[in-house]
Amino acid sequence: MRLDRILSNLPQFNRQAVRQLIASGQVLIDGQCCRDPRFDVTVFNRVELDGHAIQAGKPARYFMLNKPMGVVSATEHPAHKTVIDLLNEPDKAELHLAGRLDLNTSGLLLITNDGQWSRRVTQPVSKQAKVYWVSTEQPIEAHYVDTFAAGMYFEFEDLTTLPAMLEIVAPYNARLSLYEGRYHQVKRMFGHFQNKVIGLHRERVGNIMLDPQLAPGEYRTLTPDEIASV
Ligand code: URA
Repeated sequence: MRLDRILSNLPQFNRQAVRQLIASGQVLIDGQCCRDPRFDVTVFNRVELDGHAIQAGKPARYFMLNKPMGVVSATEHPAHKTVIDLLNEPDKAELHLAGRLDLNTSGLLLITNDGQWSRRVTQPVSKQAKVYWVSTEQPIEAHYVDTFAAGMYFEFEDLTTLPAMLEIVAPYNARLSLYEGRYHQVKRMFGHFQNKVIGLHRERVGNIMLDPQLAPGEYRTLTPDEIASV
């Protein structure tokens, strides 16, 4: 596999960062600096970055998990159980999360070792809807729909949220589709109306629906169609 592709598959680097890493001579192959992004890496080569070996040619893995409330969306945590702890898989250190959910949010979480794929899942430019079932403390009013669709100003980040689609399903329940994942975004959007979110569950990401067969805490591998849908 090409050197630049191997590095782009790591969750921490996008293609531009990979180009810079290679151009700046930080990548070693078999102990020698390699500045050729097209270098064909085989299983016999040792690729090294910052003193750490990177393994090439590992098969890509993709999972969906029904995240229960009370489990942290992280790979490690000093106090809480993490979503990675729920997986019975080898080489778990190679996996990362394609988007996070808050501690008390439940539902669809995607986990992979394919950094390019997870970037496509999470980056707003790929327009993958994240669909949430929301339960609130106060009745949800019809005028929220236009405010959510227009975008909401978040002072802390100094940004306006992308248009979001709110479908009011019952007085205290709505389905909300977002195309980005800002910190506590759903809670903050309802908080704008002093309406507290008391339940939040992610049902879908793009065309990937949470499998209804999965009880909270259970997971399965994604089907080829689900993987290709992103
Ligand atoms: N928005 C939130 O407020 N929490 C989540 O977990 C996801 C989106």
